[in-house]
Formats: sequence, C-alpha cells, structure tokens
Amino acid sequence: MSKPVDQSRMDRIVSLAKRRGFIFQSSEIYGGLNGFWDYGPLGVAMKRNLKECWWQDMVAGHDELMTINGAPSAYEMTGLDCTIIMHPQVWKCSGHFDLFHDWMVDCRESKRRFRYDHLQGKWATYRKSKVFITTDVSGDDAEPDLVGKAQKFFKLRAKQVGEIEWSGSLVALAGNSPDDSIPLGEAVAPDASEKGTLTDPREFNLMFETRIGALAGGKDDLAFLRPETAQGIFLNFKNVLDTSRVRVPFGIGQIGKSFRNEITPRNFTFRSREFEQMEIEFFCRPDDSRAWYQFWRDRRWQWYLNLGLTEGRLQLREHHEAELAHYSRGTADIEYAFPFLADGEYGELEGIAHRGDFDLRSHMEGKLVRENGELVLETDSDGKPKYRGSGRDLSYFDDVSRERFVPHVIEPSAGADRAVLAFLCDAYHEDSVPDEKGNPRERTVLKLHPRLAPLKAAILPLVKKDGMPEVAADLYRRIKKRMPCMYDAKGSVGRRYARQDEAGTPWCITIDGQTMKDQTVTLRDRDSLTQERVPIDECAAILTERLV
Ligand code: GAP
Repeated sequence: MSKPVDQSRMDRIVSLAKRRGFIFQSSEIYGGLNGFWDYGPLGVAMKRNLKECWWQDMVAGHDELMTINGAPSAYEMTGLDCTIIMHPQVWKCSGHFDLFHDWMVDCRESKRRFRYDHLQGKWATYRKSKVFITTDVSGDDAEPDLVGKAQKFFKLRAKQVGEIEWSGSLVALAGNSPDDSIPLGEAVAPDASEKGTLTDPREFNLMFETRIGALAGGKDDLAFLRPETAQGIFLNFKNVLDTSRVRVPFGIGQIGKSFRNEITPRNFTFRSREFEQMEIEFFCRPDDSRAWYQFWRDRRWQWYLNLGLTEGRLQLREHHEAELAHYSRGTADIEYAFPFLADGEYGELEGIAHRGDFDLRSHMEGKLVRENGELVLETDSDGKPKYRGSGRDLSYFDDVSRERFVPHVIEPSAGADRAVLAFLCDAYHEDSVPDEKGNPRERTVLKLHPRLAPLKAAILPLVKKDGMPEVAADLYRRIKKRMPCMYDAKGSVGRRYARQDEAGTPWCITIDGQTMKDQTVTLRDRDSLTQERVPIDECAAILTERLV
C-alpha cells in the first residue's frame, strides 16, 4: 500500500474558499447540486480578473504590428460572444451528437452511477475468497479507501485487516483496452456488499438537452446547451471575415459558459457540469500550421508562468498518436499537479489542438469521418450524407498569393474554472510571521499575482481617532478610482493584515500617528512582508505601477 495522503491540504483550500467567499456549492440551502458551483464576492472578482487577463493578453491587447517571439509572422486577433443554444445541426456535423459520450456503469445494489474509466481497484484474497475491490476515489486516497472497502466486504474486524492478501498493483477496472478489462462479475462496486452488481458499460452523451418554444414536444424542437464555445466561432468565420478587415493568419477569441452532463463531477470545481471556457480558434495557411501549433503551445504555457503558477507543478504533455481525436493532427495539454491528485499525476488545464481543416469543412460539407487517413463525408446506408453541412462556402481567398484554400485551425482551449482552481491551490501557503510584538504568528496567505488578486489594497487607519479614519477614507476613495480596494478599521492591525493575507490582497496601507505629522503611510507587501514609508499622495501611482 502506498503512503497515506495529506488530503487535508486540499480540504483546507476548499474550506478557505468557502470561509472567505471565493466558492460556494450551488443551491446549498437545498442540499446543493452536484457539479455546480457559485462564485462568492472574492471568487467572482478573482475569476473576472483571470478572464480579463486572458482577454487582454490574448485578444484586446494583442499588437498586430509586431511579430511576437517564436511566431511565424505578425497576426491579428478579434473576439466574439456567441449563443449557448445553437442550431441542432451544428452538433450533428461537429460530431458531438454521435461521439461526445463517456462510458458509464450502474451499481444495481447502491443505485450509484460511475464513469467506467474512473473506477480502479486491486485483487484481494481472504481465506480463499478472491475478488476485485474497486474505488471511485482518486489520488493517494485510493489505496486506503480500498482497504476500508475490503474490510467491509469480507466483514472483518480492524485487527484482521492485515490478513487480507493484495495482489497486483492499482489498475483501472476498464483496463487499457477491452482485452485487459477486469470481468465485472468478479468486481465489488464501491459501496456494494456483494460482487457482480455493476451493469455492463453503456454510452452516455454528455450534452444537456433542452426544448425550444412554447409548443415544444416534437423531435424537431430538441436543442442542446453547448458543450464547448468553439463551434460558435466556426459558424461565424465568414461573418467575421466579411465584416472586419482581418486576414489569415488571425484568431478569434471567446469566453463563455459551456455545459457537460458529467457522469461523476468531482474534485471541487475541477470537473463541473457548468463551467466557463476561454477558447481561441486560430486560422492559418495549411503550410504554416505546424509552426503556428508550436507557437501557441509555447505562448499559452508562458501565460500560466507569467501569472505565477509554479513551473515545477506544470507540465506540457504532447498526446501520443493513439490518443489523438480523429480530427486532430497534434494535441498538447498543459497540466497542473493539483493537490487532490497522487504524486506524479496531473490534471488538464488547457488543450492546444491542431485541428486541420476539420471544423470548417464539417460545417460546409457535413459530418466527416476518417477513412484510410483521409477525412471523408460520412454517409448512411443509401449513400447519402449522414448529417448535411450548411452548404455555405467557408473557404478563404488569399488576395496576395491569389490562392483559395480552407484554413487550418489551431485551438488553444482553456477552462476558466480550472485555471482559478489551479491559481488558488498554487497561491495557498501556510507560514509564520512576526506579530506586532515580534512573536511568531501562524498565517494562511494566498500569494496570488496582483493582477489576479480580488482586492489590490486595504487601507487601514491604525486607530479610530485622531483624524486617522478621515485621512484613510480619503485615500481609500482615491485608490478605489483606479483599482478594487477596501477600507478596514475593525480589530487590531495584526488581525486586519491576517484577513487581507487570506484574501490574497497584495498591499496594505496603514495610516498612523506619523501620517498625521508628515503625510507618509506604511505600505506593507503581503509576500516579502517589507514595510516602506511612502508619501500618501504617491500611493495610488505606486500601486498602479506595481500592478503588472
Ligand atoms: N473545444 C475543445 C474543448 O472543449 P476540452 O479539452 O474538452 O476541449 C477544454 O475542454 C478545457 O475546458 C479543458 O482543458 C478544461 O480546462 C475545461 N473543461 C472541460 N471540461 C470541464 C469540466 N467538466 N469542468 C471544468 N472545466 C472543464
């Protein structure tokens, strides 16, 4: 059995997120809704900051006149905001209607449903009875959980647990292929008291269905909540070309909600049923597409580093040939070592995919499938297209080279909620700092990049008298015009610092007796704990300068 876990670190992060109003369970007063999360006052500010950083760094602030290091040429960027519900044919041509599914198994005894590929376990033998004990717990907690489940299954007392013989290592119930999957008749489902209670795996489409119109009911009214924002961009490719001056190579960015009816949402907000994506579809010439793919992989990797994620907890993982989706000519994932995962395991933050001409062709011609290495129109038994495309010409005419082609697409697709979670986990620190009397005090601090921090500064009058509150309130108003900040006069200065450290506020400004004499204040830095004296009139400018 592997070493026991420090699950408590993740628990402490989740508890801080709730206690300080970053993230709440949706519909909590009704018992909560699995896979849905609300962002509280600090959380909404942090998430907006994250999305704003992405939009500014990738779209609005992009300098199309210069060639960024590593880019094959200069390029343009623009944006869109498309609807969540689109024409149902979109999902038929994109492949989501037929292919966007996971395999699930149900437990006949506990009535619980599991994602087949999320169940893992080990063979356990007790007095000649051998079964495959399973768990849906991931990470370092999985093995201790198996021991508890085996104890329950064999009906043992704690002191008999050592008599269970374990063989083999922890493996997926589904195996790496159908040939090495574990026979379901031998498997004990999580929470089951007998073996063989799991049903055969069944496909489960992850798209949420809805109906359009007051007279809804027929099959033609069926629509879907989008499972990705990307498709809206492909549908508007021609609109953007015809109405703006962008020319290939160019990218279109979009931030918005996506919905997936995940079978087993888990790990806090990591796998949710409603979440936000930040996606770019970048259109380029086919012969340059490989170079653009490399460029976007590196650029997106650097973005996470620039905003402060620890490089040692990040990895860029290129997919193997067998892992690639049928349309993909190359995909790399940017992954983060989340604390709920076992040592050496990583969770996806963003995928960067080289999608070739699959998407634009699908929406012109209809649903495509790969045959003998080529993408061809899928046909039904009568030889007719299985799902017809729009029939609109989505090719591009390059007026410099005088060539017509279907652009290739590079897609950096990031999740806003996963990024917020990664930045929260990475920023979470527990350390010890001297209090006002110089004694060590334990503190919890979120070392968030100032651009991501919900509040940039707190203005603290040392005492509620001697004119200090008035001076502090005036400074608060001046700073608030430039950035989010708060005024806090409650409790000792030490307690006020502690509150701001937990909220991730990078700077605290204290108005004290000396301020009243020489118009200087103390500027405290959350991470270095340095305290400088700066003129009160320069405070707003100093913070603005540091906020990069
Ligand atoms: N258009 C491509 C696409 O949607 P994806 O890998 O399925 O690709 C992109 O999703 C990103 O969206 C992921 O890297 C992840 O950050 C986020 N994401 C996907 N499913 C999610 C879920 N159930 N909960 C939270 N974020 C999710």
